[in-house]
Parts: sequence; C-alpha cells; structure tokens
Amino acid sequence: MITVALTKGRLFKDFIKYMEENGLNDYIGALTGETRSLYTVVDDVKFIFAKGPDVPTYVESGVADLGIVGSDIIAENEFNILNVSQLPFGDCHFSVAALPGQEAFGTIATKYTNVAFEHFKNRKMDVSLVHLNGSVELAPLLGLSDAIVDIVQTGGTLRDNGLIEYEKIMDIHARLIANKRTFYTKEDGIYEFLKEIGVV
Ligand code: PRP
Repeated sequence: MITVALTKGRLFKDFIKYMEENGLNDYIGALTGETRSLYTVVDDVKFIFAKGPDVPTYVESGVADLGIVGSDIIAENEFNILNVSQLPFGDCHFSVAALPGQEAFGTIATKYTNVAFEHFKNRKMDVSLVHLNGSVELAPLLGLSDAIVDIVQTGGTLRDNGLIEYEKIMDIHARLIANKRTFYTKEDGIYEFLKEIGVV
C-alpha cells in the first residue's frame, strides 16, 4: 500500500480534469464521492486529503509516500522532500497586482511572504509585507496595502475586483513530491501508481 497526499481545492479540480482526459475512471469515482471522509483507498493506493501547505509535511514525515502539490507551496516553504517532477496540470502564476494607476508599491499584502520578499529584494525595492490568509484581493481595495502578490489562474478574481496585473513573478505548476526514504523502499508500488496515472 502506498499513501498519496492530495489537496482539495484548485489543484484537485485540475487533477480530476487530467484524470478525466486520460480515462482514469476508477480513481475519479473514488476521489469525487459525496463524503467528508479525509481519505479513500483504491486498490493499493490510499489517498489522503490535506490543506495544500500541509501536503509536504505529510510527505516529509513519511506518513504519505507521495504528494501532489502546487509549486507555489514549494516556492514559499522549505521541506526535506524529493521534488520529483512537474505534472501536466495546475498551471497558473504569481503576479504583482493592484488597482489601475497605482504608482506606489510600498506595502504588499500576500499569503506568500517569502516569495514576495525574494521578488522585491531582487528588484531592490524596499517594501513592507502584510501577511493575510486568503481573499488577498481585498487589501488594496480597502487601503490595507498598495498591491498584492498572489496566484492568478483565470484572472477572474482580479477582474471581478477591479485589479490588474503589473508584473508576472513566476509560473506555477502541479508537482509530484516524494518522501526521501519510501520513494526507494516502496519503489515498485510507487512506480505502478505513477505508470497508471501516466506520469512515467
Ligand atoms: C486563489 C488566489 C486568487 C484566486 C485566483 O485563491 O489567491 O484569489 O485563487 O484565481 P483566478 O485567477 O482563477 O480567479 P483561492 O481560491 O485559492 O482562495 P483564497 O482567496 O482563500 O486564497
């Protein structure tokens, strides 16, 4: 049995779409059932559902062997995991966004303070960072910050809140991560699963 940590949310929807496109119906049935259970088992694979930033924590500790996580999480935090490969879904990007005509970028609200810090350090811009846990787009609308650093996928959230992108920071993709020990000790089960989902 191998354990795979998934995150419910944007990336999960993209993973299900990828499986639909590839006819992986057994997995889809098990993963999309109407239940609040936080794990499900399909043959020799146990899937657990965690918050995105917690997926690498489960993998690092070895209670999950594999994880599917956005590269935004890997960019923001340090984990002692194998960053195995990029996956063909979950594409979006980090951007600096603000109201049209914004000239000052002194205060930046974001969930991703490390990504934002690195970006503005490279730009040699001195900014104050305000950490928020979500709905970051509110900050410039209410005057809490001049701009935000956030994930943009469709651009709908920015558009619906009257914000525009000023600068793209980096591309984001889904990534396959693995525990450094069990990636080798459970090699056969892991390979079987990866072959089934078409990523090896
Ligand atoms: C993310 C991100 C943006 C939005 C971008 O938020 O922080 O708010 O999605 O997506 P879009 O470009 O397709 O509109 P998420 O839905 O993860 O929730 P959050 O606001 O609580 O972080």
